[in-house]
Amino acid sequence: MLRGDKVGLRARYEDDIPILRTELYDDVVNSARAEGRPWRPITPGSKDSRLVVNDDEQGHVPFSVVELNGGTLVGTATLWGIDTHNRSAHIGLGLLPSARGKGYGTDVVAVLCHYGFVVRGLHRLQIETLSDNAAMLRSAERNGFAREGLLRSSAWVLGEFMDQVILGLLAQDWKPSPGLG
Ligand SMILES: CC(C)(COP(=O)(O)OP(=O)(O)OC[C@H]1O[C@@H](n2cnc3c(N)ncnc32)[C@H](O)[C@@H]1OP(=O)(O)O)[C@@H](O)C(=O)NCCC(=O)NCCS
Repeated sequence: MLRGDKVGLRARYEDDIPILRTELYDDVVNSARAEGRPWRPITPGSKDSRLVVNDDEQGHVPFSVVELNGGTLVGTATLWGIDTHNRSAHIGLGLLPSARGKGYGTDVVAVLCHYGFVVRGLHRLQIETLSDNAAMLRSAERNGFAREGLLRSSAWVLGEFMDQVILGLLAQDWKPSPGLG
């Protein structure tokens, strides 16, 4: 398990899947805002790639996020689009509604940076988020990510086009907090 200050990132367990499905993916608004594709229901037991891990998929590393104090499941975190030639990847995360606004998102980004830069030896990490997602923008910027661009009207979200922000962080600009790992 990878450890931050408040949360740990561990493998996805079978028992996590029904909770993540109910709390995150069955929430149409959350799903529509977090994913670049239309919401559709997930059949229980299906091999939906948003939940079920395929260990052969080298470029996509999903974690479950747990509280360090007690081990309760609080969300998902993913390093995806890993490009070993350009040594870059993207970060994605989603917390259960009850776990938001407690500093966990900022901590998850810190742990994913540790995984990307230290464990995987990457050079650049990127985040894309809707321009009104203040908590995601702040979680990224608290970890040193810089706003690099605005993709105007690039996301169709529940009846309207929204702008997306691209944020990037280079390995040499990353300042890890002590105790990560
Ligand atoms: C986005 C998300 C991961 C952020 O994690 P979080 O644990 O809620 O965020 P944190 O508690 O670490 O807060 C980070 C910062 O944002 C601020 N913040 C938190 N919620 C906020 C809100 N609703 N509005 C404005 N600012 C907010 C916090 O005050 C904090 O700022 P500070 O560091 O200056 O104090 C989480 O809210 C979430 O899972 N949301 C739904 C799914 C989603 O949007 N995923 C990202 C898709 S790209």
